[in-house]
Amino acid sequence: MDTIRTDCLVVGAGLAGCSYAHYASRLGLSVVVICSDDLSSGANSQYAQGGIVFDTSYHPEQLKKDIIEASDFTSNEPAVDALVEHGQNAVQSLLLDELDVPFDRDRGGELKYTREGGHSSKRIIFSKDVTGRAILSNLHEYVLSLPNVTVLTGMVAVDLLTLSHNSVDPADKYKPLTCIGAYALDTKTGSIKAIIAKKTILATGGLGQIFQNTTNQPGVVGHGIAMAHRVGARVIDLEYIQFHPTVFLKKNCPLFLVSEAVRGEGGTLVNAAGDSFMDTQHPRKSLAPRDIVARAIHRQLISNGDNCVYIDITSRSPDFIKDRFPSIYERCLNYGVDITREPIPVAPAAHYSCGGVYSDLNGRTSVANLNAIGETACTGLHGANRLASTSLLECLVSAKLTAESDVDDIKAGLFHLPNVHEWHSPDETPDEVLIRQDMKLIKSTMWNYVGLIRSSKRLHRARRILMELDEEISEFYSGNRLTSSLLNLRNAVKTALLVVHAASLNPASKGCHYVAVDDEEIDMPEPESEEMLK
Ligand code: SIN
Repeated sequence: MDTIRTDCLVVGAGLAGCSYAHYASRLGLSVVVICSDDLSSGANSQYAQGGIVFDTSYHPEQLKKDIIEASDFTSNEPAVDALVEHGQNAVQSLLLDELDVPFDRDRGGELKYTREGGHSSKRIIFSKDVTGRAILSNLHEYVLSLPNVTVLTGMVAVDLLTLSHNSVDPADKYKPLTCIGAYALDTKTGSIKAIIAKKTILATGGLGQIFQNTTNQPGVVGHGIAMAHRVGARVIDLEYIQFHPTVFLKKNCPLFLVSEAVRGEGGTLVNAAGDSFMDTQHPRKSLAPRDIVARAIHRQLISNGDNCVYIDITSRSPDFIKDRFPSIYERCLNYGVDITREPIPVAPAAHYSCGGVYSDLNGRTSVANLNAIGETACTGLHGANRLASTSLLECLVSAKLTAESDVDDIKAGLFHLPNVHEWHSPDETPDEVLIRQDMKLIKSTMWNYVGLIRSSKRLHRARRILMELDEEISEFYSGNRLTSSLLNLRNAVKTALLVVHAASLNPASKGCHYVAVDDEEIDMPEPESEEMLK
């Protein structure tokens, strides 16, 4: 078995993982980044449309207030303080000064600002409607040029290595729970490598693909959460799954995100009868926090028997719309909707996990030398519901603080990094039909029973289905050769069970976790399409 040794192993090459690589390498550490696809696909941050919080007339107290209010007053205050304290500087130094990301500017060269749900002012910078792509294409190129960073594409983390489980030295069984890297599958050759590291950083993004309808990229099933939980790390707040209120939904068409910025620029939510139903729901109307908008839409769908509502942006000029939202305009047009002339059909879909692997503000999890950053982590920043356009900012801040703390640890500490056991894998090729079918069952169970509005009966049913499936999948997993789809399935069922477990244990409706009262209608709308778009 090939073994690689490095200071830091980063699992995931989205904004959090790549920013960590930048900060750590600048501080003199060697870094290996692994990602399952090539760099230009895979990560959710690549597809972020809206933007990132940054404001030259910065009012930290107001931002803090908005984050806490959006969270339904559940955010962990020190985590909010860290974001508002370090966020401005991280955007300025990495994204503006170092990478020169092409954010939209006015004729005088000043940054343009937009607003999204839950924000009390215009404080979000953006690059048209492809902010994530604009940031990551510059960052990827930059990370590839760093001398002490090695990026290995086509590599999927299988399991974390710990001293107690994987060391060849039997005495290590008695050491405290400590991570020393990961086994990774090379999808090009099918071989397994051991990557041994002083620090292992989980930056695998969220878990949206465990739901039928989602804005997340294929394969985003909570890999980091499942792997961390398997070695005994604490995971928290997993009941708080944020559903994005507005995902394009039309019969026989793929789903894709219609950014909240469309509402920020004047788009209004209306139902099929043309009523602006948000006007009576919240003082911020169509720009209320996401959980409130998503539930209001859900109730419209149930009470009117419709499968979508609409965003109407036709009050803005066609030139403005095409210039500000070129990608959304093109994609909607491809599926027969000219958004300059007609409303956009939308419905909610799973978008963001506010919970994740417990981590402190320096990325440290409950397992020694295992870090989690970005969406994979949960510092309590978002509490029960995330404020729009804070996720990219969190990636930068958590990457920076974690790298800085890791360099101190690495300089100060002695690391015991023994050889690990060989990986043995059966030769049997897994049946892709079984994998696909199991995946469908996970996604439909989560969509129908663990969606926007939950009940204890449905959570109970979901748990039974998933537990049975988990047993089947474990057996299937141990009898077959490892493939990327088999690893997805194994982690998807684990993450789904963790979400169901967290939701079942929490009877209190807060933010994104809403438990139905009495005989409230809780059906999830029928999904229109199984295909997910990039
Ligand atoms: C959006 O553009 O609506 C998504 C941005 C986010 O999730 O913060």
